[in-house]
Amino acid sequence: MDNDELSRTVKVVRSWLMEARDNVLRQIDSRLKVATKSSRSDLVTNIDRSNEQFIVNKIREFDSKAKILGEEGFGDQVTNSDGRVWIVDPIDGTMNFVKQRNHFAMMISLYINGDGVLGFIMDVMNNELLYGGPDFGVFLNSNQMTKANNLKLKDGLIGLSGPMVIHNDFNMQEIANTSLGMRVYGSAGIDMIAVLKGELVGYISYLKPWDFGAGRILAETIGLKITTIDGHQLGVLSSEPVLLATENAHHDILTIVKK
Ligand code: IPD
Ligand code: CA
Ligand code: CA
Ligand code: CA
Repeated sequence: MDNDELSRTVKVVRSWLMEARDNVLRQIDSRLKVATKSSRSDLVTNIDRSNEQFIVNKIREFDSKAKILGEEGFGDQVTNSDGRVWIVDPIDGTMNFVKQRNHFAMMISLYINGDGVLGFIMDVMNNELLYGGPDFGVFLNSNQMTKANNLKLKDGLIGLSGPMVIHNDFNMQEIANTSLGMRVYGSAGIDMIAVLKGELVGYISYLKPWDFGAGRILAETIGLKITTIDGHQLGVLSSEPVLLATENAHHDILTIVKK
């Protein structure tokens, strides 16, 4: 994509997210229609759905030939990463949204033939938007972000998934113990923003393509490492236990995982 097209795309996606944010805020005090999916903690609301429908409509108007992978099913059946693929998580951290009306995100990313081009994560209640990609740089609202500080695991806080800590998957308790402390925020988007801003040295969770699609592009652009929990490359469409961290913390965590 040339620079003009990148700038144009960033501008238009930012405007969708701003409008989507206004739509969510307008309904924030309304009674939500909440349904469960795979389990009692796997929720979807009328706003997850209307937000995805809104974003998918915008993408279709802007980029009619692209494929769209949306968590709530308003996009296409995407079976491979050929061509232009947009990935949408309309509300990330639905449980937080339902129980706290806070600490949730909206995420959009664009991949072309499997390469990450642009990622967008919006922390709705803090009005923080992180966006960009390898040929654009990474911005927090209007400020360009610099390369991530390469802290070790023992020198920082780590964001973890609650269930992984409870079940001690992949030696998670030793990872938490080695760090300065663990945090469980309950939204991959909010956790990834914290890693991108240097508030956390890393984040580990089981994730789906819409949970890590945007964060992966932003993270790699500012020199963070994102792989499967055992250090392998992530597929665009795969669901995996994901490890995002500074290069040093990534190395420290892999050593503990492989013990
Ligand atoms: C979930 C959140 C959660 C993470 C789960 C995700 P959702 O996304 O990001 O923090 O641990 O794996 O599925 O369903 O609220 O969009
Ligand atoms: Ca969900
Ligand atoms: Ca999600
Ligand atoms: Ca979601």
